[in-house]
Amino acid sequence: MSGSEFLIPCADRVANLPAYVFATVFRMKEEALAAGREVIDLGVGNPDGRAPDNIIAALNRTLHDDSWNCHSYGTFKGLLQLREAIAAWYQGRFNVSWDPESEILPLIGSKEGLANLMRAYLNAGDTVIIPSPCYPAYFGAARLCEAEIFEPALTEDRDFVLDLDTIADDVADRARMLILNYPHNPTGGVCDLAFLEKAVAWCRDHRILLVSDIAYSELGFSSDAPPASVFQVPGAREVAVEFQSLSKSHNMAGWRVGFAVGGPEVIANLGRLKSNVDFSVFGGIQMAAVEALTGSQQICADNRTLYQHRRDLMVAGYRELGWNVPSPPATMYIWARIPAAWGNDDFAFITEVFEKSGVLLSPGSGFGVHGRGYVRTSLVIDDARIGRVMDLLKDSNLDWD
Ligand SMILES: Cc1ncc(COP(=O)(O)O)c(C=O)c1O
Repeated sequence: MSGSEFLIPCADRVANLPAYVFATVFRMKEEALAAGREVIDLGVGNPDGRAPDNIIAALNRTLHDDSWNCHSYGTFKGLLQLREAIAAWYQGRFNVSWDPESEILPLIGSKEGLANLMRAYLNAGDTVIIPSPCYPAYFGAARLCEAEIFEPALTEDRDFVLDLDTIADDVADRARMLILNYPHNPTGGVCDLAFLEKAVAWCRDHRILLVSDIAYSELGFSSDAPPASVFQVPGAREVAVEFQSLSKSHNMAGWRVGFAVGGPEVIANLGRLKSNVDFSVFGGIQMAAVEALTGSQQICADNRTLYQHRRDLMVAGYRELGWNVPSPPATMYIWARIPAAWGNDDFAFITEVFEKSGVLLSPGSGFGVHGRGYVRTSLVIDDARIGRVMDLLKDSNLDWD
């Protein structure tokens, strides 16, 4: 029977998932590599650095620690030690207090937590407001809940800060959830506390769960105004939940560790759902996360300096080509309108750039309908390779205006 088709159809919710835009991009890359071509991938937001030695040592210590067995099943709620470390980190970073017993939940990466939160709070047919462009995983998670997605635009003229006044009352009244992500993937946009205050008041008025994703909170480049937590806004506890990740701040993307904070009810509901799905984060990684949050935070400062430096190099290089890209205030991305010759067709643009140079960018339409006509560059290569990218792009003789 080998080579025959599998006879059992999958559930509609999986069958109906739209084709992943980036799958085509991955295929292009694989084919070029198989053909022996030089490829420089600036598409994926995957940190090229590694976690610092003190974090690796904490994992190693735990693996050999005979005082408890991290190799066996843990607890659904995660280690108290990690929840206490998260509480201390939040207190130090945002001056916000949490009860480690009931208001904090470790996650197998924030992607997992965001998807499971949607499962915990969205019924089929419920409306979720997902401003776009955005982190594409929000869409897949919402579709798996069979939720209706309302997708307001984040625009350059507002520095990609959502304009809540453009959301009609009937949408606001039926919506169950709003997702905000500042600092923002893919645009690098940031918001101020005044915007978060407005968002909390708006969500309170309309009884909407405000989901704040601060995966890039440690990658803001302004020393005057480090990115805020939604919980710095009084009254947020009754409507909000916040997701944090160690992937980008501490170069731990492959380790899979993040956490959610919020009032006891939302954390209990997320925990209840998760207890039916997983067994929390591996103990060794939880102890490494304790070290990441309570030990030296130098890696976060180093990453800010690194990404800001790469941003400057890349922006200068693009501008020298004649492509006038903006310089974002945060994150590890550059988000730019494609040159005029390609109109709104970001996919045609990245395909031609790739064919002529081997440099791979992310097509903006993969980040939602309002990403159309844009591309994202991830700052995940060192200076020498940025120089190489610029040489390859120059030699491509494309029209960058
Ligand atoms: C905005 C945003 N949120 C969440 C995540 C997921 O991060 P994690 O590695 O914690 O799952 C990412 C990853 O790229 C992201 O860009």
